[in-house]
Amino acid sequence: MTDQTVILVVDDKKEHATATAEALQKVGYKCLVATSGREGLEIIEAGEVDIVITDLIMHDIDGLQLLKTTKEILPDAEIVLITGYGTVETAVDAMQKGAATYLLKPININHLRAEIAKLVEKQGLVRNNKELHKQLDERFGLTCIIGNSSRMQKVFNIVKQISGTTATVLITGESGTGKELIAKTIHNNSPRKNKPMVILNSAAIPEHLLESELFGHEKGSFTGALYQRKGKFECAHHSTLFLDEVGDMPLSTQVKLLRVIEDGVITRIGSNDPIEIDVRLIAATNQCLEKLIKEGKFREDLYFRLNVVSVKLPPLRERLEDTTLLIDAFLREFCQIHNKNISCISTEARKVLYKYPWPGNVRELKNCIESMVVVSTKDILGVEEIPDHILQRSSELPRPPSFMTGMTVEEVERELIKNTLASVEGNREEAAKMLGIGERTLYRKLDRYGLK
Ligand SMILES: Nc1ncnc2c1ncn2[C@@H]1O[C@H](COP(=O)(O)OP(=O)(O)OP(=O)(O)O)[C@@H](O)[C@H]1O
Ligand SMILES: [Mg+2]
Repeated sequence: MTDQTVILVVDDKKEHATATAEALQKVGYKCLVATSGREGLEIIEAGEVDIVITDLIMHDIDGLQLLKTTKEILPDAEIVLITGYGTVETAVDAMQKGAATYLLKPININHLRAEIAKLVEKQGLVRNNKELHKQLDERFGLTCIIGNSSRMQKVFNIVKQISGTTATVLITGESGTGKELIAKTIHNNSPRKNKPMVILNSAAIPEHLLESELFGHEKGSFTGALYQRKGKFECAHHSTLFLDEVGDMPLSTQVKLLRVIEDGVITRIGSNDPIEIDVRLIAATNQCLEKLIKEGKFREDLYFRLNVVSVKLPPLRERLEDTTLLIDAFLREFCQIHNKNISCISTEARKVLYKYPWPGNVRELKNCIESMVVVSTKDILGVEEIPDHILQRSSELPRPPSFMTGMTVEEVERELIKNTLASVEGNREEAAKMLGIGERTLYRKLDRYGLK
């Protein structure tokens, strides 16, 4: 039995409802009780019910209506109808509409428990199956990381070195550079890979719910806390917790997160009992945390705790050599998904794609290739299929260094040095490393080309 199963018992005869709930609570299930169809619906709408046991005939909203709405709101929930001899036919009919089973009044407790145990097992199997498929998708094919640029090779080396450890990782990079993909790769190559990585996106959750999402809550600890709930930290016990968009976390939550990292224990909201947790943290952000620290929006002490290992993902425009591989991989992937037979992309089209600066990085390139594959009717993708805004922007830009045929070697070198320096915000040590020359050589060249 999973300790997560929540059962809702709906019956407008209160003593029946509580007796059923108690019989199930005794064998360890979490039960909620509603004494009218309307009250039952409210709980179902709150979204955290696995099994609904409902009387067929009630005054306001009857069991059939409850069945219909539950199937709409919670398609994975199972519904058990309670019925008298007079309404068996209706109950059988309800099973065709999606009810799992029906039980005759008066309820036999052993029978009830056996039926519920079957449903819980079935739900567990379905959940595991879904999880398994997701993990398989993640491990094979769909999310393999592509990149042969020296900057991505450096990233891969770090990923290899740290995957086997429990070191906290901070992944930074512009939107669409592959932060989540890197986090999944680290997790999938770690000893924790048999449990799914848990994800929490601070930007997607309203501020007042974020702490409960992270640390969980006890029943009744705030309005809307209908029952006890585990937070993401507890769910990620012995696994990895990916704190996405951590730069968007409000300061008050940052304080609490810092304490959890330092103490290795969490306390659910409304509880005083600390729970020990063993969680590997990976955080990511597309914001500059150093800047947020200066502005007083991010805690410096938390930053140091998260930034134990730092993985910086370069924007696509600074590793244009990866574009070729990415285009080919996405072309293959989307041909398969959309059942198309496209062999390649024309040289002209490639040139346009190489010139475009990809502000949305790999995600934007991926979407672009998908849309080209979808609209294409030929076996070679051409310029005609390129989305208008990309075509237009590309034609406005000068040729990138890789297309500088006609220039002298010196001119190309000058451009290369200029662009490399710009890509690392003028950091000469970094630029020299990227160019594969000594710092003093770089210095001399800057002098010669008047770039100082
Ligand atoms: N190196 C790569 N190889 C293959 N696919 C990639 C690569 N980098 C990113 N992708 C794909 O691009 C898309 C965006 O990646 P992801 O969601 O990891 O980016 P992100 O940095 O988390 O973006 P955001 O900041 O917007 O959340 C995903 O579909 C991902 O699979
Ligand atoms: Mg992301």
